[in-house]
Amino acid sequence: MGKVYLNGKYVDQAQAVLPITDRGLLFGDSVYEVIPAYAGIPFRAEQHLKRLQRSLDAIHLKNPLSPGQWEEILERLCSEKAGQDQSIYLQITRGSYEKRSHRIPEHVSPNVIAFSSPITERDPSIASEGIKAITLEDIRWKHCDLKTTNLLPNVLALAEATDKNADDAILIRHGEAKEGTSSNLFIIANSLLITPPDSDQLLPGVTRDLILELARESNIPFAQATINEQDLKDATEIWLTSSTREIAPVVELNGKPVGDGKPGAYWQHMDQLYQAAKQRIRLQAKNGGQS
Ligand code: PDD
Repeated sequence: MGKVYLNGKYVDQAQAVLPITDRGLLFGDSVYEVIPAYAGIPFRAEQHLKRLQRSLDAIHLKNPLSPGQWEEILERLCSEKAGQDQSIYLQITRGSYEKRSHRIPEHVSPNVIAFSSPITERDPSIASEGIKAITLEDIRWKHCDLKTTNLLPNVLALAEATDKNADDAILIRHGEAKEGTSSNLFIIANSLLITPPDSDQLLPGVTRDLILELARESNIPFAQATINEQDLKDATEIWLTSSTREIAPVVELNGKPVGDGKPGAYWQHMDQLYQAAKQRIRLQAKNGGQS
């Protein structure tokens, strides 16, 4: 790992330390973002920074940095590994204080960390063979639309999926499928692309928005509608989407094939559109950042 960002400084990872009383550590009192960057250019940074602001507003934490300062951090972290595909992680905690107390201190001084990690090329077997998923009860809290670091239920659900020889879990609340452990959900049913509507039960994914935008541009019929367990079972295609995973085709659900058990035609079409959107960013990088 190159230099990482900690409260205004770029330091070696080993030097980037926070006090053990940091509220992110003690209470999960923090929010985060994960932003992909292709050929050194952050992808949809504005949308990620907007969602970061929304998460901050919801936990009543003032944004410690201006949009320009965030952009500077993204640029600097990208330049650490010039030209490479990376994902940039940003986290803001409510800060560290002398005493552990649930009560939010009067004078808040947040901690900000950011670092980048390489994005490796997608494993070709995902496009050719797809991934497996299981369904699990969604035991998360009631603000899943906020990107907070309270991720233990997500971590445990993924662990259970892994134990059951699956790649991810689709979380079900009151009989309705909401999203993956760190991804949004799409299905194809009767030739219609469907994703569950915005609510406090799922994250408004930046990748999800892009897919809806691409569907609109390409006249692919789509809807934001409830997906119940039966819809999921009957779906001809299931996809899980995120900034780091892109669009992963689920070919097996709870041990049974989805559709014909192979990545479907709708997925192939959408994946091509998505890869083309990424490619445009790479071309922009070649042209010195001009689109
Ligand atoms: N997670 N839903 C959940 C619960 C997520 O954690 C994520 C992303 C998404 C997809 O959002 P986006 O398309 O904006 O990446 C949906 C990131 C990648 C993470 O936690 O690492």
